[in-house]
Amino acid sequence: MIKHDLVKEILISETEIKKRISELAVEIKNHYSNLKKPLVLIGILRGCLFFLSDFMMELDLACAVDFMYVESYAGQKTRTFEPKIKLDIFTNIKDHDVLIVEDIIDSGKTLVKLVEHLKLKAPKSVKILTLLDKKIKREVKIEADWFGFEVPDNFLIGYGLDYQEQLRNLPYIAIANLEKIKALESKKMS
Ligand code: IMP
Ligand code: MG
Repeated sequence: MIKHDLVKEILISETEIKKRISELAVEIKNHYSNLKKPLVLIGILRGCLFFLSDFMMELDLACAVDFMYVESYAGQKTRTFEPKIKLDIFTNIKDHDVLIVEDIIDSGKTLVKLVEHLKLKAPKSVKILTLLDKKIKREVKIEADWFGFEVPDNFLIGYGLDYQEQLRNLPYIAIANLEKIKALESKKMS
């Protein structure tokens, strides 16, 4: 796939992303001004890739990082099953403040599962930061504590977001040209 050809429209530019991340880093630093132990950032693989690293470099706080991998979409456009935790954190988060760092919230099911799971490990607090929020798609009751941008119900790619594990490496967030992607795929198969 030639990545830029599969973009229908750029929704959020690289500059806008960076600017919003700086604002979020300041808000979040202020929120955790009385930390007793390092904040543990938990990145949700694989979409958090660029957001987590850019955010963490902007965040002027003592923090550690760990990762989880939750299978929610199985690489498909629509979800076919309930989220399953495939990789858990290695860090002991007991009595630590924890911040989940997500790429996007859609139905909210992934986060409900994650929050439930992390709370069993007795952290001091669990909060959620997401770069993108498709509020209109929510099926369960969960909200991010901080979000970068509210986005419409389109299939988005870039800056970590994938279509079938590809197109994560666009520096901006774009609406995918699904018709073009599918046409290319069926040509490949015939
Ligand atoms: P949820 O459980 O429905 O909230 O799904 C959240 C997960 O689905 C996110 O962490 C993403 O990995 C994936 N996802 C949701 N919407 C999109 C999208 O537009 N593009 C790419 N991945 C998406
Ligand atoms: Mg994700």
